[in-house]
Amino acid sequence: MKILGFKAENILNLKCVEIIPQGDTVIITGKNGAGKTDVLNAIWYALAGTKDIPSEPVRKGEEKGYTEVDLGDYIATRKFTKGGATSQLEVKTKEGAKFPSPQSLLDKLIGDTCFNPVDLMTSKNRDEMLLEIAGLAGNFRTLDDERQEKYSKRRFENGEAKKLEAQIKKGLEKVEPVNVQELIEERDQARERMNNIGLLEEVVEDAEEKIKELRKEIEELKEDIETNREKLNNCYEKEKDSPKLEELQDKFQQAEGRNQKARDYEANEKIKAQYKERTATSDKLTEEIEEIDKHKKELIGNAKFPVPGMGYRDGKVTFKDIPLDQLSKSEELLLGVQIQMALHPDLKVILVPDASLLDSDNMKKLEELTGKEGYQIWVERVDDSGQVGVYIENGEIKGVNK
Ligand SMILES: Nc1ncnc2c1ncn2[C@@H]1O[C@H](COP(=O)(O)OP(=O)(O)OP(=O)(O)O)[C@@H](O)[C@H]1O
Ligand SMILES: [Mg+2]
Repeated sequence: MKILGFKAENILNLKCVEIIPQGDTVIITGKNGAGKTDVLNAIWYALAGTKDIPSEPVRKGEEKGYTEVDLGDYIATRKFTKGGATSQLEVKTKEGAKFPSPQSLLDKLIGDTCFNPVDLMTSKNRDEMLLEIAGLAGNFRTLDDERQEKYSKRRFENGEAKKLEAQIKKGLEKVEPVNVQELIEERDQARERMNNIGLLEEVVEDAEEKIKELRKEIEELKEDIETNREKLNNCYEKEKDSPKLEELQDKFQQAEGRNQKARDYEANEKIKAQYKERTATSDKLTEEIEEIDKHKKELIGNAKFPVPGMGYRDGKVTFKDIPLDQLSKSEELLLGVQIQMALHPDLKVILVPDASLLDSDNMKKLEELTGKEGYQIWVERVDDSGQVGVYIENGEIKGVNK
């Protein structure tokens, strides 16, 4: 179904305009502000319900206006009165029979689309809209968020593991710590014994002195000497099997070094255990990320994008693997046209307000693309020669060129 005729009176800047398309390409030309986009807008107001109608659709200074699109089987007319808050739509057959629910009839024709490919492609929620059309609505986006969260967590765990790995010392031996308290006690005992020996030696010496000085007491002192010598011998004897004071002194000195090694070993074992834990968490997150990627791949594999070559990658809708916001304006426009064709297969009409940005190759491409599928295109182009297409000046048609 195509547009066989279009009429509008007192809509936006349009005064009284009638266009009967000849062929499948209708080119609307004129200076800036002449009313080219108004023609496309008026077509859209007739078909698309009230959602895109502006606050003042009636031409300034006029009381009422209308826009009418003849689709062959149906003729849609929307009438406005000054103020523009309300409008009346009428859809009739060419024989004049009226349809009771005119807008729902047109909605079926228009499908799930917007005014034109430019609006579609520059819409804020373009990607969301396209993902929904492709059957990727709902929790698909949350998968992206979930993946991002796990990815950041894994990066943190890997960072922590790396720090721990740097702290691990190589070649440390396991060392049993020494009980320093026991050593202190042993050393004190040895000191006491040595003091004892010293004291006894003094006594013997004193006695010998006294023998010399006090002959009278020699006998007594001899006995003393005998007794004390015996004790001394006992002590010597005992001393043979006891740990030597110097050795204990050495052991005592070594103990601190050895205990430091034991502590180092323990600390190192702890770090190793933490390292193991961190790398295990990281591995688990890797598995979960792979699981999400797999699930996303499946969903993307099952997606039904309206145009071949469209896809989804890294949170963005793509065309030929390039994110839509990186397409050139003309590529964007041509893709938008293809999407629109897929969205309303019955209404074979595409409105293109920004065709001035297409060079002659791309204009040809646009005509081939739409022509192949039997679509009619209405394109707006800035051209003030008056020699191209339907030429408009200040809201009126001033010439129709072949
Ligand atoms: N209700 C209205 N009454 C009268 N004029 C209006 C009304 N609404 C909009 N206009 C005017 O209509 C003019 C035509 O706008 P339109 O967008 O159709 O121009 P255009 O030919 O597409 O220009 P461009 O080359 O810049 O795209 C504008 O100057 C605008 O101010
Ligand atoms: Mg315009």
